[in-house]
Amino acid sequence: MEAYRETEEEDEERRRQRKLEEALEVKSLRRIISAYLNYPDAADEDVRRWERSYRKLPPAHKAVLSHYPQKFRKLRQCIAANSYFIFSMLQAFEPPLDMSQDVDITEHEHHDMPHDHQFSSERNICCAQTASTSGNAGSCECTEPVHRDENDSIHTSTKRMTSSQEEKRENVSEAGNSSSEAEPYKERCKHNSNEVAESNGNGPSSPGDWLSPSLQLDVPLVDVDKVRCIIRNIVRDWAAEGKKERDECYKPILEELDALFPNRSEESPPACLVPGAGLGRLALEISSMGFISQGNEFSYYMMICSNFVLNHTQTAEEWTIHPWIHSNCNSLSESDQLHPVSIPDIHPASAGITEGFSMCGGDFVEVYSEPSQLGAWDVVVTCFFIDTAHNIIEYIEIISRILKDGGVWINLGPLLYHFADMHGQEDDMSIELSLEDVKRVALHYGFVLEKEKTIETTYTTNPRSMMQNRYFAAFWTMRKKPVEMNHSAS
Ligand SMILES: C[S@@+](CC[C@H](N)C(=O)[O-])C[C@H]1O[C@@H](n2cnc3c(N)ncnc32)[C@H](O)[C@@H]1O
Repeated sequence: MEAYRETEEEDEERRRQRKLEEALEVKSLRRIISAYLNYPDAADEDVRRWERSYRKLPPAHKAVLSHYPQKFRKLRQCIAANSYFIFSMLQAFEPPLDMSQDVDITEHEHHDMPHDHQFSSERNICCAQTASTSGNAGSCECTEPVHRDENDSIHTSTKRMTSSQEEKRENVSEAGNSSSEAEPYKERCKHNSNEVAESNGNGPSSPGDWLSPSLQLDVPLVDVDKVRCIIRNIVRDWAAEGKKERDECYKPILEELDALFPNRSEESPPACLVPGAGLGRLALEISSMGFISQGNEFSYYMMICSNFVLNHTQTAEEWTIHPWIHSNCNSLSESDQLHPVSIPDIHPASAGITEGFSMCGGDFVEVYSEPSQLGAWDVVVTCFFIDTAHNIIEYIEIISRILKDGGVWINLGPLLYHFADMHGQEDDMSIELSLEDVKRVALHYGFVLEKEKTIETTYTTNPRSMMQNRYFAAFWTMRKKPVEMNHSAS
């Protein structure tokens, strides 16, 4: 009887924890959606600030800059075009959670949560250009294989990786029409939410509902900065203007994969994992080369955007955005600052993907520590990823564990540890190893270094800017020694 009561209490406690976890995740996701929705106002506030400064000029100085009012008008059109893209992207996103649920979480409950779950999806994307050290999110969404349908578009279904392994399918809707016309953003929002509400009914997670202003949160400006970082990431992954960066970062990895797996079988292609896949271009390229490719990403900022580009774009160059309007600094000309960028440069669904391409949402450590992942991969590719760790040793240990014996780890990136500047949080940790120590740790976990070089590159840098931060990134190929070799070495 006593034992029965204890089990019941444990079950109740687990249910409470799960509910709390989900409420926290909904809150984080609402915050991210709010950041996206706040983009037009925040961007417009910048323009208003620039206008105020302009108005303070003495008349003689103002006369020299008589073209400025026109520039402000053009900036607003660019903001409207970006906002239209962002809103279309949000509309295509199907939240894997009931966004209307009550997310009032008491201080006490919050402290009851394991640390990893606190504000999981809020610590997020990195913006290496500014050498900022934003961390990353721990949202737990796992997408099952992306596959082609008869319409030749890529579909993604979503599985939430909560402790209970609940499943929720994502319905992939048709992408809306694109427009580079600067239509007033708020009008467009109203119009589109009505359309969706009519076609999708009144379910709690229908887009019309979860985008409703009543569910939005006040977000700090730093959150909107993350949206601007995403816009820059779109150029890196999905614009012709990002080709130089992709050639510097992705090409050496793709060439190495090609050299290491020259006779890959079509019937049984090698399996490649790309942790920290960002907006998914590298994972897609690997798939197109004949690998079963899985991207892993834990930022909802990134997932919302990659889902849109991969699953909802109908043609190449369907959308136009203006990525460089948010700063007046280091511009060579006004036209450089306002420069329109067409995306995507390729139509992902026509890229010749290999069956089994998928994007898996969730924290790398959490998802790939599962026993089912043991020895599951022929190759792990990390690009600008390993320095996102709180504990890089844990990343290396997991990479070693999930590789097959004889499997390879290809890495490219710097060591700009994302949590290095997290001050003031007692329980936060950041292990910041030198390259020499990273290699020592890899050796310890059974890797043999096969190739090593330095690659000079940028990360989400405006190619037209007068400021170009360059990394001297480490590139390596390491092979996991077969077990017998491991034993004989120790
Ligand atoms: C610097 S970005 C690099 C993105 C992409 N690989 C590229 O080269 O453009 C690092 C990415 O890793 C993701 N990330 C960071 N920590 C992660 C984790 N623990 N699990 C999964 N993804 C993570 C971030 O959200 C971000 O998209």
